[in-house]
Parts: sequence; structure tokens; C-alpha cells
Amino acid sequence: MATNRTFTMVKPDAVEKNNIGPILSMINQAGFKVIGMKYTRLTKEQAGAFYAVHSERPFYGELVDYMSSGPIVAAILEKENAVADFRKLIGATDPSQAEEGTIRKAYAESKAKNAVHGSDSDENAAIEGNFFFSMLERF
Ligand code: CMP
Repeated sequence: MATNRTFTMVKPDAVEKNNIGPILSMINQAGFKVIGMKYTRLTKEQAGAFYAVHSERPFYGELVDYMSSGPIVAAILEKENAVADFRKLIGATDPSQAEEGTIRKAYAESKAKNAVHGSDSDENAAIEGNFFFSMLERF
């Protein structure tokens, strides 16, 4: 059953380009409510653990280096059908394939530097939210 929650990160490229505000605005305008939010930076070890599911992929090293290269904004978001609707809002992993009106179309620069993360399932949304947030940090 859908949990109505998803997890997101505003990635280092978008933070560096001062796009936190515009991205959060698109998220709010799409009807997502913020349940938890923090501005933080992952160590290489933490980024490696977060993306462990991709450890066999050729881009894993690049992904870990990149995701630990600067601060990110992590958030748990709530909305009916959150996982699927959020993936629609962010658009394709490769920004050149992302539809008009999506966050990645507007703010991503490449497959690696793609502005935002969005959970791909309810199960991963819960795992990823738990990676960053305690129960005392959710409202
Ligand atoms: P994300 O939604 O955070 O989940 C996995 C990430 O791996 C993905 O976004 C991309 O940033 C990254 N990724 C996927 N495919 C590639 C690729 N071919 N080259 C570099 N990074 C990739």
C-alpha cells in the first residue's frame, strides 16, 4: 500500500547554483508537504552507503564523489501518491530526456548533476527517510 511519503535531496549542483528556493517552490506548488528537512553534507562513506544499491554500476564512484562534494538539502515529503507523483515532477534522470515543466528540465545539467533525487519506491522512500531523519525530526 502507498505510504504517501517520499524522500528527496536537492543535490550539490543545485545548491551551488542557488536553486534551493526555486526547487522547493516547485515542490510546494505541486502539493507536497514538508515532513522533515535538513541542510547537510554527506561524507564519502555516507554517500556510498546511501547509494549502496548502485555499487555495481559503472557510475558509482562518480556518484559517491559528486554527492559528497558539497552540501545538500534532504527532505521527507507527503502527498497522496507521493513516490509516483514526485518522480513525475522531477522528470527523467537524464535532463535531456526530461519533460517541459519538470524540475530536472529546469535545473539539471547532466545525468550525474541532475539537481534532485526522488525515491523510486515506497520501500526505498522509507529506507532513505530513515537514513537522514529520526522520529523527532518529522512533523
Ligand atoms: P538519483 O535519482 O539520485 O539516483 C541514482 C543516481 O545515479 C541518479 O539520480 C543519477 O544522479 C546517477 N546516475 C544514474 N545514471 C548515471 C550515469 N549514467 N552517469 C552518472 N550518474 C548517473
